[in-house]
Parts: sequence; structure tokens; C-alpha cells
Amino acid sequence: MSEFDKVIDRHGTDAAKIEYLKEFFGRDDLLPMWVADMDFESPYCITKALQERLNHKIYGYAHAPESYWDSIINWEKNQNDWLFSRDEVRFVPGIVKGIAYAMHCFTQPGDSILVQPPVYMPFMNVPNRNGRKVIYNQLIYKDGNYLIDFEDLEDKCRVERPKMMILSNPHNPAGIVWGRDNLAKVASICHKYNVLVISDEIHSDMPLFGSKHITFSNASKEAKSISITFAAPSKTFNIAGIVSSFCVVYNDEIKSKYFGYLDSNEFDQSMFFSFIATEAAYTYGNPWRLEMLKYVEDNISFVEQYLKDNIPGIKMVKPQASFLIWLDCSGLGLSQDALVDIFVNKAHLALNNGEDFGPGGTGFMRFNVGTARANVEKALIQLKNSL
Ligand SMILES: Cc1ncc(COP(=O)(O)O)c(C=O)c1O
Repeated sequence: MSEFDKVIDRHGTDAAKIEYLKEFFGRDDLLPMWVADMDFESPYCITKALQERLNHKIYGYAHAPESYWDSIINWEKNQNDWLFSRDEVRFVPGIVKGIAYAMHCFTQPGDSILVQPPVYMPFMNVPNRNGRKVIYNQLIYKDGNYLIDFEDLEDKCRVERPKMMILSNPHNPAGIVWGRDNLAKVASICHKYNVLVISDEIHSDMPLFGSKHITFSNASKEAKSISITFAAPSKTFNIAGIVSSFCVVYNDEIKSKYFGYLDSNEFDQSMFFSFIATEAAYTYGNPWRLEMLKYVEDNISFVEQYLKDNIPGIKMVKPQASFLIWLDCSGLGLSQDALVDIFVNKAHLALNNGEDFGPGGTGFMRFNVGTARANVEKALIQLKNSL
């Protein structure tokens, strides 16, 4: 039995995926397979580093040590061939916040921001709630895969003149690892129309089944010059509650404006939990990460086979990264309301409603399999019986 097989009860730990059930689904007797954190214990190297610091018992203001910055720089160099210096990286207290800061820094109310739905909801919610106009370059769903509609992207850039594009790289919810050609093409169009690209790479350290993540700024010279890239150890090492993320900028003009904005508002001040956990993860956590990814791959293969054998009306878009599976339920021939009703009220499962991911999300549900196989199996049996 692997450590990932352990079924861990998260009740009583203020876990969002448990505590928000009633508010979001109207009931709390559901298996929580929605919010994107995993049910695996974080690697021991992180717990140990935090415990050692807690033993000191004075938790005052902190200063991020050089070893923290070195751990980030070395990790990205080794994992993703992504090179940057200390001057080009800053702490941000969460990636959604980092994106929101960039939006406030580089756009005004009324400006357009381009996203590629179906996509992670805050990419649309943050601009919408701040008086920006969200422009869609909807992904093309073809033969169980997703493609970028470049013709539409160029049209939208020319006509709508967005100030910013938010790219999900790898893509949440479909787990797409964008190839270099795709990224370079996005960069070329955005460069032509003067669009700042925000590349959210929070899922980048979880490539699956032999895929290779390409950092946006590595795709081309243009990509490097027009972008802010965000990454974090939070998803990979299951430390999303210990907020720790960073951003990298190369272009001097963008850097001085954005880093100046972060600095003047003290948004780039890290807390000691963040840098201790990050440094431990990036220094000692790689063996754990590789084992975890293997387990997640096996979970995904398990779901694929189970659906084929038992629920042929649901197909999965096989993820190339991360622990989220985008289920195409259109074969069931149900309205979205009826689909959600089956998942929630008959199968007693909390999955993310595909419609929440914007245009192109109807007919889909997002299934988090970053959990023990026994939970995945239980969920699939409940789903099968409800259909
Ligand atoms: C693509 C993407 N970006 C950002 C986040 C959240 O990041 P943070 O908690 O650092 O704001 C998530 C979490 O699900 C995500 O999937």
C-alpha cells in the first residue's frame, strides 16, 4: 500500500472543499472532488521544516533568505529549463491575487481582458467584478482534444483591442500542456496588438504521461518580452493553504511598473511559512512529487477504464498535466441542470459544474482525482449507480 492510498478525513480542519459544500451544493453529504487541492499529506520534508521553525515560538516579521530565492531559481532551471535571476522574480501572496494586481496595474475599468474558455473561473470573475470587459477566445473542442482558435484570437485582438490576455499554461480545466508552437503563435499575435500576456503556470510541475511543460517566456523572444509569468509550489506539494507564489518578468518597462506596484503596496512581502515550505519543497520534495504523479496517472487510467467499461456516456479528456479530469458528459444527453442534479442529489458527489468555466463548459464536469484510489472508485460506483 502506498502512502497515497491513505484515506484521510479532512473534516474539522477548515478545509474549503468540505466547509463550502453546503453553500455551493445545498447539502454536505457529498464526496468532495471539486476544489483543486489534493487529499494527500504534503511531503515530510515540508512538515519537518515548518515544525522546526514553530519550535522557536517567536513568530514575528520575517525576511525571505537568499536560500529561498535560490531554491526557486534552481527548481525552475532544473524542472522547466526556465532561467531568471533574483532581479526578475518577486513573491506574490497567491496567483489569483497576483493576476488581480497586474490587472489593476496595467488596465482601467472598461478595458478588455481576453481569456480562453472553458477556463478557471477567477480568470473571468476577477475582471468582471472589477469593471473590466471579458473577451472570449473560446477553445475548439475536437476529437476529445482542445485547440486554440488562432483566427478568432487575432480577430478579437484586432477588433476588441484587449489590454491583457490571461493564459492558463497548463490549461485548467482540461489539463492541456500547450506546445511551443502554440505558445509562440499566441505571443506573436499578442505582440502585434500590444497585449500583455499573463501566463498562469501553477500546474506546470505536474506533467503527466511523458508530456513536457513549456514556460511561456521560453516559447519565443516575443513571449519573453510581453509577459508576466506566475508559478508556485502550492498545487504540486499540496500547500495551497500556505500561500506561496511568485512571478517572473523580463521586460524592463513591465518589470519596473509591476514590481514597483507590488513594492509600494507591500504585496510582495512574504510570510515565513511561505518561504520555509517553498524552500523545503523545492530542495527536498522532488522524489515525493514523482511518486505522487505516478499515483495520479494511475488514478486517471483507472477512471478512463472504468468509464469505458461502465459509463460509456461519459468520456474523459485525458489530462496531460495535474490531477483534474474534465469529463465530457454530453453523451448522456441531459440538460446541465439535470446533469448536476444527478451528480449532487443522486450520486452524492461534489464536482465542479462545467458551466462555471464559461463558454464551452456545458455538458462537462470537473473531477479532482488527487485523492486515494478508494475515493475515486467510490465516486465512480456512486455515479454508475445513479445513472
Ligand atoms: C489555473 C489556476 N490558477 C490559480 C489557482 C489558484 O491559485 P492561488 O491559490 O495561488 O491564487 C488555481 C487553483 O485552482 C488554478 O487552477
